[in-house]
Amino acid sequence: MSAGISNIYVCTNCDAQLSKWSGRCLECGAWGTLVQQTITSKEKEERKLDIEPAVAVDLSSIESLKLDRIKTNISEFDRVMGGGIVPGSVILIAGEPGIGKSTILAQIAQKVSEQIKKNQNIIYISGEESAVQFKDRFDRLNYKYANLKLICETNVEKILSAVNKEKPSLILVDSIQTIYSANLPSEAGSINQIRYATIKFLEYAKKNNVATILVGHITKDGQVAGPKSLEHIVDTVLYLESEKSQNYRLLRATKNRFGSVNELGIFEMTGVGLKEILNPGAIFIEEQTAKIPGSVISCIMEGTRPFLLEVQALTSKTIFGYPQRKASGFDLNRLQVLATVLSKRTKINLTNQDIILNIVGGMRISDPAVDLAVCLAITSSLNNKIVDRQTIVLGEVGLGGEVRAVTKLKDRLAEAEKLGFKTAIVPNLDVKTSKLKIVKVKSVGEAVANF
Ligand code: TYD
Ligand code: MG
Repeated sequence: MSAGISNIYVCTNCDAQLSKWSGRCLECGAWGTLVQQTITSKEKEERKLDIEPAVAVDLSSIESLKLDRIKTNISEFDRVMGGGIVPGSVILIAGEPGIGKSTILAQIAQKVSEQIKKNQNIIYISGEESAVQFKDRFDRLNYKYANLKLICETNVEKILSAVNKEKPSLILVDSIQTIYSANLPSEAGSINQIRYATIKFLEYAKKNNVATILVGHITKDGQVAGPKSLEHIVDTVLYLESEKSQNYRLLRATKNRFGSVNELGIFEMTGVGLKEILNPGAIFIEEQTAKIPGSVISCIMEGTRPFLLEVQALTSKTIFGYPQRKASGFDLNRLQVLATVLSKRTKINLTNQDIILNIVGGMRISDPAVDLAVCLAITSSLNNKIVDRQTIVLGEVGLGGEVRAVTKLKDRLAEAEKLGFKTAIVPNLDVKTSKLKIVKVKSVGEAVANF
């Protein structure tokens, strides 16, 4: 190795920087995530030479931020973005291969191109697909190509020089992993390259006030391919996710400098692209499980929107050794806690029962408001007793078995009412609804004894 180059090792999971390689990241404990990164002496010098003094500005002299957002009119996308695309911002859309990143990018291109003026344009940089493949997708989506230009290129210098000539109003990059710079010694696709290319796009975006959307691939466990290490460079990070069994695609922001990160966008993958689901209240409820014990309906809040969902539990006698607890879509530790509370605070014996818990529809939830529904699902399966489908169950369960208040109870009940539910089992609070029959419970014991 030449004298001017030194190596550091960067964890693709937590972004820790280590001087030595090891099989396991010393910071986050993930295995096999350390990737070599090279710092050339030129970069080192650049880091040292910090000669120009920074400017200190008076806050009162700065005008307030007026965000002239570009609305895509894909309402779910706009909402997750906090109202549209902010000019000059860099947005990363990350997701597994095949999830629909190129599709959503094509749809954004189309929607924005409909709105910009005749002499403006959008540039789509495709490092993965040829022009023919790209056009095929657009044809499939029934799109016209007004104001849209395609660059099939992976060299970031060439791309930016072309972009500079075109002066687009929006830049779309599919995908950042394929872009490389000839100025760097490391190979295309390495973290150094991906980061460098991202910074180049960022510089261009900020300098010219052009919004840029980058697509980044992640692997099944959300690692390796690099988007994690880009998260602090870009302004907004969106994840496009799905579950195996259904066509739904969930879009969530994990970082947003120009909006909240609580909103969830829901799309359905159809033959003609991603369709927004504007009223998703009950899409995660399965009709088929209506007459099966162990299934209970509850409601979570995602951002400002309530979603009804179904909690399913299956108990079976432990054949050998310790009782098993398995959860999908729900925190396993939380399940252990709830199972212990049930055993200790009610007459139910779970010490010789395996418990499997599933959140139907592939949602991953962390809202404590479903605690009581989880408890009722377990006892419903154990007692082989069906919980009425027209009943919604809400409440956090404390270690003493007490049923605690949940946030936004009114909104959740209003959604249930709208979807035709008849009864609500809720914590012992002052609640008023017009149609729902309200059943207040103080403890989990009271709830399982009655339902
Ligand atoms: P794509 O956007 O290429 O995924 P990514 O860029 O994230 O890898 O789309 C992936 C899948 O979506 C692909 O299997 C085909 C399917 N698809 C549809 O079902 N309908 C459509 O209209 C389009 C464009 C794609
Ligand atoms: Mg793609």
